Amino acid sequence: MCGIVGYIGARQAQDILLNGLERLEYRGYDSAGIAVMDGAKLGVRKCAGRIAELRRLTENSPLSGCIGIGHTRWATHGEPTDVNAHPHTAGRIAVVHNGIIENHAALRRHLTEMGCRFVSQTDTEAAAHLLNALYRGDMLLAIRQAMGQLEGSYALAVLCENEPDVIYCVRLGSPLVVGVGEGEMFLASDIPAILPYTRDVIILEDREIAVLRRSGVRVYDAQGKPREVKPYSVDWDAAAAEKGGYAHFMLKEINEQPRAVQGTLSAYCGSEGLHSLLDGVPERVDFIACGTAYHAGMAGRHYFRELAGVESEAHIASEYRYSRLFPHPGETVVAISQSGETADTLAALRSAAEAGVRTAALTNTVGSTLSRLARAAMLTYAGPEIAVASTKAYITQVETLLLAAIDLGLRNGNLAAERAEGLLSALRALPEKMETVLQNPQFIQQYCGRHMNTRLMFFIGRGIDYAMAMEASLKLKEVSYLACEAYAAGELKHGSIALIDEGIPVFAICTKESLLDKTLSNLRETKARGAETVCVCPERFAVRAGQDADIVWTVPDADEMLLPLLIMLPMQLLAYYMAAAKGRDVDKPRNLAKSVTVE
Ligand code: AGP
Repeated sequence: MCGIVGYIGARQAQDILLNGLERLEYRGYDSAGIAVMDGAKLGVRKCAGRIAELRRLTENSPLSGCIGIGHTRWATHGEPTDVNAHPHTAGRIAVVHNGIIENHAALRRHLTEMGCRFVSQTDTEAAAHLLNALYRGDMLLAIRQAMGQLEGSYALAVLCENEPDVIYCVRLGSPLVVGVGEGEMFLASDIPAILPYTRDVIILEDREIAVLRRSGVRVYDAQGKPREVKPYSVDWDAAAAEKGGYAHFMLKEINEQPRAVQGTLSAYCGSEGLHSLLDGVPERVDFIACGTAYHAGMAGRHYFRELAGVESEAHIASEYRYSRLFPHPGETVVAISQSGETADTLAALRSAAEAGVRTAALTNTVGSTLSRLARAAMLTYAGPEIAVASTKAYITQVETLLLAAIDLGLRNGNLAAERAEGLLSALRALPEKMETVLQNPQFIQQYCGRHMNTRLMFFIGRGIDYAMAMEASLKLKEVSYLACEAYAAGELKHGSIALIDEGIPVFAICTKESLLDKTLSNLRETKARGAETVCVCPERFAVRAGQDADIVWTVPDADEMLLPLLIMLPMQLLAYYMAAAKGRDVDKPRNLAKSVTVE
């Protein structure tokens, strides 16, 4: 969703801000802008549309100065117009904002009565006017006072003409990182924006205010008390957040999965054996997450039931937080989120914690809000994921949950040591098998060429394959905009089979021998009604699958528990090549954002 950048140093700010905003484009946005201070004079350029438009604007009318802030906006309050784009100004102040000011209407009324003139429909403008009204020559104090009046979530960056050598920023519930350079400081809502300049970052905590000067940064709490800060060194490099010769980040990230799986395995399973991933020995493990991360939770539910023998459920975070909870004394709730900043998931985690449940986080983002809210945090080692569609983060989520289930199964006595060792050695061999699938995408590309005008597709599966079908369907629809549905294979005949018509593609995902015949018989039911059927399965099922399906796509044989990780690769490639064939904006699908920070 919205993105923030900031710079103060000896270089011209404009280019650094524009480059930083480009590196945040993947978050999703519909307008952009920058404010640069030249001496004690603020200049603002902003417009609806892409950064390319903003670049054109700044080429025609450049901003000079070595201190500035920038923003990409994903419209929530007011349409994506030039006027609603950030920065917003009030008096001698310019502000950019991520998050939502929930009491903006009351503030707007009050400030209008005081004589402030609003020009936009945004909630952010209320924050700009409030700061301007509170400012009496000390911005740190004004921000602290404003914090007492602002409700909702925010990351704010502020420039003030009266203090021409400082950037102020503050966060509550929306991430902000400060990048520390030599004689220069950077600010961003997301680490990739500042990776080309520095890997030393300070992650701000909620209710902290940072004051950035060329010479350094000072961090204060809401009472104005300074906090000792030590930069943390990020181990991602800038190249990891670049396309590296691939047409799109999504394709690059799909191809990075063997390495991501290898990296995650090495992080949790060294020469000394498998690490403990969850605290204690939980008797029940529930998952809360959204979208793709929820689908990883659905797979996790299966692993914990099968391998650790414990009760387990996956919940959609936005539903969980409003449902009546029945906490179990031995329960752990694991919140799964690539970004660690998804508002629905954070809210659900807070509900679980308030109900007295032990919490854990599974995230790809070190220092994210989720990892700090939960009692314990597990990381996926996928590296930065830039495409909006989650691929490598998802695969490593599923992998980490598999490892956590193996670990718990060993510790609670449900899983024999030999079976655990068998699974771990099969996992070690998995990256090579993944490479085999990825090296041969041509048949999928050709399939997409033939089917790009299809109006509807179905994905079916049973057990863990239903979770995979859900993810295959979401991936395809989010990047290609093709209408598709996922069903538990046995459920289709209870209504939705009415949609099956001549030539509608139905994909059956089959990784489990015990469910193969049943799922294939459901596939036959659709074929009898005109569907074109595809079975996606391991090589060892190919002959059997060929008796019922029109087309069979195979992946190398592997342990049944690991097959879901392999089977998702052709499904991700299907989504990618379909989107590419249809000429979609693959990495930044319409209406979507990488990290969804509103509820
Ligand atoms: C993934 O492809 C989707 N864009 C989306 O469903 C995503 O998984 C969801 O918004 C949750 O994001 P998170 O993992 O950052 O919490």
